[in-house]
Amino acid sequence: MINRIPVGIAGLGAYAPEKVLSNQDLEKLVDTSDEWIYQRTGIRERRIAAPDEDSGAMGAIAAMRALDDARVAPEDVDLILCATTTPDLPFPTNACHIQHRIGAKRAGGFDINSACSGFVFAFNTAVQFVQSGTYRNVLVVGTEKLSTIVNYEDRNTCVIFGDGAGAMLLRPLDDAGRGEVLSTSISTNGGPEQDAVLMVAAGGSRLPASPETLAAKQHTMIMGGNKVYRFAVSTFAKLVKESLEPYGYEQLGRIVPHQVNQRIVEAACERLDMPVDMVFSNIHKYGNTAAASVPVAFTEAYREDMLPKGKLVVSAAFGAGLSWGHFLVRW
Ligand code: COA
Repeated sequence: MINRIPVGIAGLGAYAPEKVLSNQDLEKLVDTSDEWIYQRTGIRERRIAAPDEDSGAMGAIAAMRALDDARVAPEDVDLILCATTTPDLPFPTNACHIQHRIGAKRAGGFDINSACSGFVFAFNTAVQFVQSGTYRNVLVVGTEKLSTIVNYEDRNTCVIFGDGAGAMLLRPLDDAGRGEVLSTSISTNGGPEQDAVLMVAAGGSRLPASPETLAAKQHTMIMGGNKVYRFAVSTFAKLVKESLEPYGYEQLGRIVPHQVNQRIVEAACERLDMPVDMVFSNIHKYGNTAAASVPVAFTEAYREDMLPKGKLVVSAAFGAGLSWGHFLVRW
């Protein structure tokens, strides 16, 4: 029998870049309207990082805020896990850049790329390290500069995505004092058909950067919106239902999911027979920020007093891969 150390969420932090890109701004770039975007997605505006602001820089700010919240010094961080689809460089990792920026001299670290599910995947990995007693202070960062891989001539995608960063510090529950992790899962289902649902085609080893790939804008995201929609609704509902099964719906305090799209949230709630206000949403302000969305939403839900003490809080995320996962905590 393995002795597992209970894990808790000791600190939360988020960062949103200053520049706002509103639906009205997008009306000037592509054939769309504020009304279409808001009705289909719930998004009013999103944030765009400054040209000299990379995802590592944003992640470092969120990380420092999570450490301040936990009252833990950067020198005491043992491990940094950075979830991102838009790292500063193909290598070295963003974890290295964040380590340098915050002065976490003792820490090891690495990046995890699982697109919109990335933060939950990194959270799950962090739990293993704390639970096993390997490390005490594990910083989990989700950060994205998606504006660098969005084609602002493609109305199918440019209305959805935004930039931002969020972070959590996981510690043994005795030190964290809150947010006991009860369960967490990660799943993937890959294949050529799944690639086509949501991907960036060029810039990797399959199709390296070339003048042709640049001209064809193959370094930007393509998305099969309807396929993502169907997958997201059923996966969201399934993750919430299965994670709550051992405890019962009456113990639920809030759902803080990947901020994918308000219509997806509403459709999933209908399947779950659950009121939509059980779900914390800030998608109207930030759009979909992939790996950053869960920690940004969690931090805001906490600040806005939307996480009832002693109740269950579930996060579910899903995205390219296909990939999906959850974590469930008692707040
Ligand atoms: N503004 C105006 N019209 C748009 C548009 C935009 N921004 N984007 C697409 N359209 C058009 C389409 O071209 C299509 O026109 P057509 O019928 O002349 O071809 C029409 O609107 C309907 O397109 P459709 O894809 O059926 O719309 P939809 O109701 O399914 O909504 C999404 C589109 C993208 C909002 C929806 O599929 C969705 O939310 N998908 C999930 C996306 C997501 O969350 N991705 C991230 C996953 S982690």
